[in-house]
Amino acid sequence: MDKFVIHGGRRLQGSVTISGAKNASLALMPTSLLAPGKYELSNTPRNRDVTTFSHLLESLGVQAELNGNTLVLDSSNITSHEAPYEQVKQMRASIYVLGPLVARFGEAKVSLPGGCNFGPRPIDLHLKGLEKLGANITLEGGYIHAHCKRLQGAHFHFDVSSVGASVNIMMAATLAAGHTTLTNVALEPEVTALALMLIKMGARIEGLGTTTLEIDGVDELKPVNDSTIPDRIEAATYLIAAAATRGSVTAHNVDAHHLTAVLQALEDSGCELDVTENSIHVNMDANPKPVDITTAPYPGYPTDAQAQWSAYMLNATGTARIKDTIYPTRFGYVPELHRLGATIDTDDSSCFVKGGARLTGATVMSSDLRASASLVIAAMMAEGESEILRVYHIDRGYASIETRLTELGASIRREQTAEY
Ligand code: EPU
Repeated sequence: MDKFVIHGGRRLQGSVTISGAKNASLALMPTSLLAPGKYELSNTPRNRDVTTFSHLLESLGVQAELNGNTLVLDSSNITSHEAPYEQVKQMRASIYVLGPLVARFGEAKVSLPGGCNFGPRPIDLHLKGLEKLGANITLEGGYIHAHCKRLQGAHFHFDVSSVGASVNIMMAATLAAGHTTLTNVALEPEVTALALMLIKMGARIEGLGTTTLEIDGVDELKPVNDSTIPDRIEAATYLIAAAATRGSVTAHNVDAHHLTAVLQALEDSGCELDVTENSIHVNMDANPKPVDITTAPYPGYPTDAQAQWSAYMLNATGTARIKDTIYPTRFGYVPELHRLGATIDTDDSSCFVKGGARLTGATVMSSDLRASASLVIAAMMAEGESEILRVYHIDRGYASIETRLTELGASIRREQTAEY
């Protein structure tokens, strides 16, 4: 187990290059199951979730190699249609192999993902969507078994806007016989990035960037090369960290269009922003005004950046309400922030951060990926030394965060610990 040791009180300054988006990579990688052959995915982030998903693909017979930031996948020889519990329990996005496997091979067996550290995360829409396309689905021994002769186009409406279900069902529909209409499709940029890659592969999809996709199934697709879009959540994390330390940081390799809600919140809090084609500069030299946020599906404020906002608001000149409508119980980090001296109340789906409390270093525990990012930011704001335990959570989605924060002037080092 690794931990971070952080000495707070330093201002972040300089430049950081943002990685490719973890959640886009995880959506692009399973396309390799839809057509045999070789794929090169550039701008792939070097984080633990990408490694975990590569191992899952390898267990199905795909050869995977990450050279620098180019992920080379060769799916010429698929040997298995089963995603075992050992793989799926490490990462819920493993469910993304279900749609492609059943669409191409007519069968798939995928372990049910099980619980999650920040509340229930059902997969009913993934299963209902595939059933609507004609898959026969049964649950047995903790596994989803899906069978079909060939998927058939149909109309499927997502009751809830879901990134994962949109990804899975879109991939499946590309190989279904006939026409599929998907309504209330998630608008997140990672979903559009997948649609663009599928179109390159020969899929016939219309309606990109809207909530209705019209898909004409094709008999086969072909392998292609693609590039991963910038990680809007990683960018949000560094920009918020800069503001929280009253810093001055430029994030490069970003798409500001994907960050409208976060940039608006930063501006409302008093930050100066300078946005160009592919960079965002943030400068903050005062305590922020309190800014309430409510998470919502894209283009709303992302749930994956709410914990970081709570940390930032610890310096605010009043109380800010952070409400999560996507995952109403995603506040596991609050008791850990209390250990640093924070004053935060919670109710059913919100926390109320009272700015201005004196923050002092302490030992705190990460509970999930974005919670860990929040703790790192808060520790950089606190006086003295903090230890952040279980940083394997942060390694899932942030490549070498301690190196990049050190380059920006933070005092943060990784150490091994026997503590759990
Ligand atoms: N939902 C259902 N039924 C389903 C699927 C989802 O009711 O079958 C609900 C969820 O309970 C939630 C809402 O729909 O309330 C949205 O969930 P979604 O399916 O969009 O989440 P996801 O696909 O499981 C992805 C990201 C998450 C991110 C959410 C929301 C990936 C691999 N994961 O998860 O990212 O929080 O969308 O934007 O893309 C992270 O990166 O830290 C992370 C957790």
